[in-house]
Amino acid sequence: MGKRSRYKLLTYFGVAGLITFVASLVFNRTILPKKTPTPKELYVISPSTYRFILNQPELCEKKSPFLVLMIPVTLKDTEARTAIRRTWGQDGLIPRVTVLHLFVIGQPAQSDPVLQEHLERESKEYGDIIQMDFVDSYHNLTIKTMMIMNWIATYCRGAWYAMKIDADIFLNVRYLVDYLHDQGEASRKDYISGSVISDAVPHRDSFNKCCL
Ligand SMILES: *[C@@H]1O[C@H](CO)[C@@H](O)[C@H](O)[C@H]1NC(C)=O
Repeated sequence: MGKRSRYKLLTYFGVAGLITFVASLVFNRTILPKKTPTPKELYVISPSTYRFILNQPELCEKKSPFLVLMIPVTLKDTEARTAIRRTWGQDGLIPRVTVLHLFVIGQPAQSDPVLQEHLERESKEYGDIIQMDFVDSYHNLTIKTMMIMNWIATYCRGAWYAMKIDADIFLNVRYLVDYLHDQGEASRKDYISGSVISDAVPHRDSFNKCCL
C-alpha cells in the first residue's frame, strides 16, 4: 500500500468516526430517553428494608425439606393458589420426599381490605403464605426475588434445594425430584440450574417491556 492510499484510508476512517461520534451525541441527547433514575425510583433492597405482614418462620423447623418451591403471586391470585395446592403443590405428592411450597406476595398499590382479610384467612388455613410490605408490581419483582432468597437463607437453611417458580407454570415435581436426586450429593452446594439462554442479545428497543 502506498503512502497516499494509507492517508486516504486514515482520512476516510477519521471522517466516518467523527460522523459516528456526532451522530451518537445527537441521538443520545434527543432520541433516547434519559436513563438516569430519579431519586424517587432508587430504593435500597436489603433484608431490613421490608417487613413481614404474614410469615411462616417455623415451617422448616421440624423437618429439612428436600425441595422448597417459592411461588411469586399477587394478592388477587386466589384461583392460581387453589389450583397449585390441588395439583403440583399438594403435600405428599412424592412419597418419602418432603417438598414444601410457599406463595410470596407483596401489597397492592391500592389497599384492598376485603382481599387482605381473605388472604389472612387463607394463610391461617394453609400456612403457605409469606407477605411483605413492598408494592407488588412488575418492576418490583427484583425485590420479590431478593426476599425469596433471603427467606430461604433465614428460615430454611436446611433445605436441599429451593426453586422459584411462577404460578402459571405446570411443574412436573416427580421429574424434578428424580433429576435432582441424579445430580448427587455434590450438587447440594453451589448448584444452580435452569433454562440457559445462550443466544441472548441486548434489548435495544426502549419500548420493550424490559426497559420502560
Ligand atoms: C416498589 O416498592 C416500593 C416499596 O413499597 C414502592 O415505594 C415503589 O413505588 C414500588 N415500585 C413500583 C414501580 O411499583
